[in-house]
Amino acid sequence: MIQNDALQAFFDRKSVRSFLDKAVPQEIKELIIDAGIAAPSAGNQQLYTIIVLEEQALKEKLALLCDNQPFIATAPFVLVLLADCRRWLDCYHYAGLDPRRPGLGDMLLACEDAVIAAQNMVMAAHFLGLGSCYIGDILENQEEVAALLHLDSWVVPATMLVFGYPTQQAAERNKPKRPPREYLVRKNYYSALSEPELRRLFNDLSPGRDFNQYMTAFCKRKYLSDFAQEMNRSVLCFSAPFTKDQERTE
Ligand SMILES: Cc1cc2nc3c(=O)[nH]c(=O)nc-3n(C[C@H](O)[C@H](O)[C@H](O)COP(=O)(O)O)c2cc1C
Repeated sequence: MIQNDALQAFFDRKSVRSFLDKAVPQEIKELIIDAGIAAPSAGNQQLYTIIVLEEQALKEKLALLCDNQPFIATAPFVLVLLADCRRWLDCYHYAGLDPRRPGLGDMLLACEDAVIAAQNMVMAAHFLGLGSCYIGDILENQEEVAALLHLDSWVVPATMLVFGYPTQQAAERNKPKRPPREYLVRKNYYSALSEPELRRLFNDLSPGRDFNQYMTAFCKRKYLSDFAQEMNRSVLCFSAPFTKDQERTE
């Protein structure tokens, strides 16, 4: 068995949602952000902007807008990662060019860039003794989020991260189990898992629980939830400009 301390960190990291009342030193915040910026990036373009939320009122408003998750406002260090298709477009314009509008592919690539930077920050924070949690609900309520953070055209939310020093309870919480590799990896070609495989997977993860009952409850709580519906509405809304005619920018 290969032993490697750095690698072990990936297995130890878990989401943290309760934080000590302890400020994160500026030097540590900057180190985390720089670790994010060091991440791989499509064409080395850094197609994102990182918003550091320093105003408590902003954290509180976002905690409400992100499906009312109050722990967001208790985190001492909060970042919103924006997919930014504007910075390079502005450069093109300043260089006298009038290229096409950004398309959905550009938006997706920028989201990938932002999320990859985010994951570098998550791991950097872990190495520095901080806990973190992604907030996917930043994709909801796009009108209010855009107004709150003064978002510009071609700039959309990609993800949000909260950081802080974990409470003892958070540090001791068990990390949720992952599916065994065999269910998530295929050789060369895709094939969907069969019903027996899916039932076996569920049983591996939650021994003794009833599959149908669990799926019914989970589907209602997550997939059919108001927040999932709101996310889909919101994303459709902020991605609409990226789906228009590619010929013209304005
Ligand atoms: C894209 C994404 C969005 C997430 N959004 C939320 C969220 O809004 N609220 C929350 O408490 N956790 C959120 N999480 C954390 C997941 O619930 C967590 O990663 C998952 O349960 C696995 O647990 P672990 O991170 O402790 O291993 C999110 C994670 C990801 C990757």
